[in-house]
Amino acid sequence: MLDNQNEDDKRQEIIDCCRKMNASGLNQGTSGNVSLRHGEGLLITPTSRPYDSLTPEDIVYLDMDGTSHGRWQPSSEWRFHRDVLAARPDTHAVLHAHPTFCTTLAIMERDIPPIHYMIAVFGGPNIRCAPYAIYGSEELSNLALEALEGRKACLLAHHGMIAAGSDLAQAFWLGEELETLARQYHGCLQLGEPLLLSAQQIQDVIDKISGYGLNDA
Ligand code: 13P
Repeated sequence: MLDNQNEDDKRQEIIDCCRKMNASGLNQGTSGNVSLRHGEGLLITPTSRPYDSLTPEDIVYLDMDGTSHGRWQPSSEWRFHRDVLAARPDTHAVLHAHPTFCTTLAIMERDIPPIHYMIAVFGGPNIRCAPYAIYGSEELSNLALEALEGRKACLLAHHGMIAAGSDLAQAFWLGEELETLARQYHGCLQLGEPLLLSAQQIQDVIDKISGYGLNDA
């Protein structure tokens, strides 16, 4: 489906996703960024441009070697967008944001444990928090890739989160599900140490939940 979508439509879809991300509260201001695989490279949001005024021509095309084509510089996080797409042939869209509850846990450098069965849609019993590295760095990209091993999302310490989907709709859905889990975990921590599901209970959900919502695992 993505292969049949033309470049202009993809550029508009990226802008729509960014605006939805801010309207939903998943992100704020110009932080956060979105990419979509295109041809041999990727389309990605420009750095530091307000989403409300973005037009399709503002979206940057990036070769896999990092060469950019467009009127603006690509997102400062182009490395992890490029590296996730390069490492995962089934991933076509990457979303990065600074949602409040994900970022709260990331500031505490906490993984999200199996508190709720919906964690299974991310591919396993936890969401890892990658150690801190400065934004836009190769080091951050390497740490993020490690934290994403076998998962469709991770937290970034003292920073935010990443969701990797088969398309932008799925990446956005995963982003919202992740922020919900983070909010629930934050709530549980107000009451004490939450009780956890077992690895087998999460595996049973993984076996059952294929095709639920926008899940394609
Ligand atoms: P850009 O505006 O460069 O996309 O980056 C903002 C951000 O969230 C950095 O992590």
